[in-house]
Amino acid sequence: MYEEIVREDIASIAEKLGEEAKNFEGKTVLISGGGGFLGKYIVGALCHLNDTIFSRPCRVISVDNYITGQHHPHFNYRGRPEVLEVWADVAHPLPVREDINYIIHAAGLASPVYYKKYPLETIESAVSGAKNLLELGRRNKNLEGFLFFSSSEIYGDPDPTAVPTPETYHGFVSSVGPRACYDESKRLGETLAVIYHEQFGLPTKIVRPFNVFGPGMSHNDRRVLPMFAYMVLNKKPIPVHGDGLQTRTFCYITDAIDGFFRVLIKGKPGHAYNIGNDTNEISMKDLAELVGSLKGNGASYELIPYPNSYPAGEPMRRCPDISKAKEHLGFTAQTSLKKGISRFMSWCGNDPQYKDGGVF
Ligand SMILES: NC(=O)c1ccc[n+]([C@@H]2O[C@H](COP(=O)([O-])OP(=O)(O)OC[C@H]3O[C@@H](n4cnc5c(N)ncnc54)[C@H](O)[C@@H]3O)[C@@H](O)[C@H]2O)c1
Repeated sequence: MYEEIVREDIASIAEKLGEEAKNFEGKTVLISGGGGFLGKYIVGALCHLNDTIFSRPCRVISVDNYITGQHHPHFNYRGRPEVLEVWADVAHPLPVREDINYIIHAAGLASPVYYKKYPLETIESAVSGAKNLLELGRRNKNLEGFLFFSSSEIYGDPDPTAVPTPETYHGFVSSVGPRACYDESKRLGETLAVIYHEQFGLPTKIVRPFNVFGPGMSHNDRRVLPMFAYMVLNKKPIPVHGDGLQTRTFCYITDAIDGFFRVLIKGKPGHAYNIGNDTNEISMKDLAELVGSLKGNGASYELIPYPNSYPAGEPMRRCPDISKAKEHLGFTAQTSLKKGISRFMSWCGNDPQYKDGGVF
């Protein structure tokens, strides 16, 4: 059973996709990381298309090892005949014997606190996972698209003259820095995707998401918006790391999933695309104020030193240049930050996980 906000959001993804959605009719899609935040929406959107417009269903194979992912009652696909949920680690080859048309490699350790805790698993999911799934793609003669989930983190801490950051910026990243397990393994995953296109003609596409958020993010995910929401809903001061002047842009889930599908369907093979919202760059101090004000319970923020659990060296600015996605894919992010956060907070307010149980 979907919850109302989630159901509306999934329907809106299908609407944004329009005719492009037909590409998935009667096809088989394998997604790794299907139990994660983005994966749950990708599976949900394909199920919604099956329920509403497809006459031949899309089969979905959702793979996850649940290292950080978890089931949530608002995204329950158990019992649907077209969905196969598989517990497996993509760092090892998958014994899949059916024909696959699309492969989406979204497994990974996306939250900085978790990639600091699991650095080797982070590398293995990005690099061995990509290699195994690319090999699986190579064995599938009817493969129409392969999507590798990279990250805006591959740009490191960009030079101020390269913000907003275009895909042509090569990044400013350390191979031995505190974030290297994530950004370097995503970079190598991209390299593999490009090599498999050049050497074997695989239709590989790369997406670099910029801070996606929305309902379904777990209360203990440790990324910034679920953390702020949890604190506000439990009437605790919002902890803001450092001086709070570091900026991010935030892309609401419906816009982002539309963008990811567009990269998979319409992106040029061997190319990388930024997907994000280029209109709302905001400092963490201002974001904390916005989240606090939306709930209207007077929550304040406090500046705190970076905790030990958080990897040092976070980028000072992050804002995408999305001209390439606009031009090649017709992508735009349409949801304002305020509207997206309001929907997210309403959802969190109804989710028992976000009620203070001392489990954060
Ligand atoms: N959400 C964002 O804003 C964002 C930004 C940049 C990049 N990304 C990338 O997009 C992908 C999805 O992000 P998300 O927000 O859904 O993250 P998430 O952490 O919510 O989900 C990732 C899922 O991958 C699973 N996983 C990890 N390693 C695995 C393995 N070896 N085998 C099988 N499953 C494994 C986890 O259990 C989890 O369910 C990730 O690769 C992430 O790095 C996301």
